Amino acid sequence: MIAPSKRLDNIPPYLFAEISRIKAEVVASGADLIDLGIGDPDQPTPDRVIDALIRSAQDPATHRYDETPRGWRSFLQAACGWYERTFGVVTDPEKHVCQLIGSKEGLAHLAWAYLDAGDVSILPSPGYPVYKVNSLMAGGDVYETPLKESNGFLPVLADIPSDIAKRAKLFYVCYPHNPTGAVATREFYEDLVRFCREYDILLVNDMAYATVTYDGYVNPTVLQVDGAMDVSIEFHSLSKMFNMTGWRLGFALGNPDAVATLQKLKSNLDSKQFPAVAEAGAYALNHLDNHETQRVYQARRDALCDGLNSIGWKVNKPKASFYVWARIPRTDMTSAEFVGELIKRTAIVAIPGTGYGPEGEGYVRMSLTLVGDEDGERFGEAVRRIAESGLIPETSRT
Ligand SMILES: Cc1ncc(COP(=O)(O)O)c(C=O)c1O
Repeated sequence: MIAPSKRLDNIPPYLFAEISRIKAEVVASGADLIDLGIGDPDQPTPDRVIDALIRSAQDPATHRYDETPRGWRSFLQAACGWYERTFGVVTDPEKHVCQLIGSKEGLAHLAWAYLDAGDVSILPSPGYPVYKVNSLMAGGDVYETPLKESNGFLPVLADIPSDIAKRAKLFYVCYPHNPTGAVATREFYEDLVRFCREYDILLVNDMAYATVTYDGYVNPTVLQVDGAMDVSIEFHSLSKMFNMTGWRLGFALGNPDAVATLQKLKSNLDSKQFPAVAEAGAYALNHLDNHETQRVYQARRDALCDGLNSIGWKVNKPKASFYVWARIPRTDMTSAEFVGELIKRTAIVAIPGTGYGPEGEGYVRMSLTLVGDEDGERFGEAVRRIAESGLIPETSRT
């Protein structure tokens, strides 16, 4: 057997394997599974986007390699237009943006484009695991900033040792945040830009959930801050915005040198998207909003959070993202143990917080993207099962 590279040892064991095994058992037993684990929009891609894809796929010009330097022109123009309309920041499609095969691809490759041995990535714990795994595989070191509920799940910049900051090349943040659903403030971004400018660090803002927001809330962006363009790059995704996860389409937008650096690596790895997909993405960015999807998630969020609060499990309603990040309602179990009991007693799947880093201990993540739910009724059913499970201590119910 030929040994894989040592680099692959940096990929942690698959935490969800045990959950998948128990899940398969529950399904095999014929129980009615409520899967709040996966964070993947359950609603279909809008018909108008599919129609745009069909039209574009019929044009032979889309059947060839996209030989543009940074992406299909109409898509890049649409991305910059959408960004300006949504966040009020003007960018140039010729220099500030590049197309991605989903934002995960870009977030991962950025680490490969920037890190040498001894360089540091600063990244959030809990956080999306892609930042850490790729920083380590690229040969860098990581420094995990603990995100505490008491600080609104924002990193405390003053706690980052200056020797770490001096070695750091990348500072990954993500707002609206997976897994906590936390949002950023303008003041936080101002401090972060100041910090990154002082230490010459590239600020990487993952905004995959930029438009998954509730009650009219709009998350600020880092590029709204003066001077941010000198040190920042943002990652956007059509996946959650238009229910297009399977299409694999996103874009990076920000500092022209950072965009060019990422693109230099990418031009040696991939040959971009099927241009018809990029055309359909441009159509979506130019013509659609996601208000109906927001309405559905909001109804589910309210059904789940109000329901859990009413049975003594105190949870906060997120302003954004499609996740409810809840402190487990008991002190005698770890997150993983609680999730194991939850699935056994109620056939409900949630993700233990430790799947997102050590700071996730004590929490679980529940997703609002439940296949088969219309308007929160399956979340009502989940609450009923949890109420009867015996998992909420009697003392919490008063
Ligand atoms: C925080 C975060 N960033 C990025 C992504 C990647 O999204 P995509 O590659 O579909 O654009 C995800 C997907 O779940 C995510 O949760």
